[in-house]
Amino acid sequence: MTNTILKNQRHLFDMPDDIAYLNCAYMSPLMTPAVDAAGQGIQYKVQPWTYGGSSFFTYTEQLRALAAKMINTKSDNVALVPSASYGIQVAANNISLSRGGEILVLKDQFPSHIYPWREKAKACGGKMVTVERRENGDWTKAVLDAVGARTEIVALPATHWADGGYLDVEIIGKAARDVDAKLVLDLTQSLGAMPFDVQAVQPDFMVAAGYKWLMGPYTLAYLYVAPEWQDGVPLEHNWMNRKGSEDFSRLVDYQDAFQPGARRFDMGEKSNPAQVMAACTSLQQLLDWGVENISHTLGARNARVANTARQLGLHVTEDNFRSPHYVALQYKEGVPDGLAEKLAAQNIFVSVRGNAVRITPHLYNTDTDIERLFAGLGYARARI
Ligand SMILES: Cc1ncc(COP(=O)(O)O)c(C=O)c1O
Repeated sequence: MTNTILKNQRHLFDMPDDIAYLNCAYMSPLMTPAVDAAGQGIQYKVQPWTYGGSSFFTYTEQLRALAAKMINTKSDNVALVPSASYGIQVAANNISLSRGGEILVLKDQFPSHIYPWREKAKACGGKMVTVERRENGDWTKAVLDAVGARTEIVALPATHWADGGYLDVEIIGKAARDVDAKLVLDLTQSLGAMPFDVQAVQPDFMVAAGYKWLMGPYTLAYLYVAPEWQDGVPLEHNWMNRKGSEDFSRLVDYQDAFQPGARRFDMGEKSNPAQVMAACTSLQQLLDWGVENISHTLGARNARVANTARQLGLHVTEDNFRSPHYVALQYKEGVPDGLAEKLAAQNIFVSVRGNAVRITPHLYNTDTDIERLFAGLGYARARI
């Protein structure tokens, strides 16, 4: 497959020239076409007589189809949920765990993908097993070493949220299946920036919050539910998820049956047109750019950032063990106090997570943004 370096897309964002926003892992900016779509959506609330009953379903089905395309599956396998934690709770409520059974997670994994499992382990007499990264930065091997006969649930990301550490979830998925463990993925920090194919990885559940690399609004996330789990128990029992809810005149003919596929897991009041129409526009744009191309373009920029940082004596994880859309500058003795605030005062935006300065650019960033970052870090003459 050939990858294309995509052109700079800053013109699609309301991003003044003096802003160096290098923090997509925190929250992506909403692109102007998505803002316009949200404006059209809110108009339905301004004039509700234009929002017919079928509109409650039309836009959400468009969004479901786009999310399904993003992960190479069909709409029936996708539920619309408000957050990663909601999706993970659906998984935790449906997967069983035996006494002494192990749930495998990473050290310093994002809390939305920890708390539901801690509660599960407590309730079932199971055990949390925390995998530590290998000295050379290799998470995949560390996880493969930890999977064993007692492993029942493997609950992981593909990109460590704090520093971009990479996990090969296809290889891990196979290892999990070999011991009959269930695989639950939180791809909030990679979906949209790194290709992902459910058919290759075969997770049981996968969720991704939509407001980072999927470039959508807040409070919208996508949950993949493998077909064998689709007769499971939803987190909430809302009217719209029951069979025949499209017919508003018969809603009190209460139904035991659900809408098909993963739709039974949809959140209540999913049909918020401003939010859903904005998300459709963003996902369509990502698909038009092509996730392979996004990954390749961000990867090429970040490889230069990482090289420059290494030449300056900064410590960056080896490229093989780093997700292409992330660079983390590691400070073994801890990040200097107030560094992120000092940079923000110069309109340079990054995050500090643990012992690392997390740099996560997107297609709106320029070489000037990166040069300003290095200058802000005290390397005024760094060239990338
Ligand atoms: C890996 C990861 N998962 C999930 C989230 C957000 O979780 P939630 O959607 O539950 O708020 C974040 C936010 O930073 C994250 O980095």
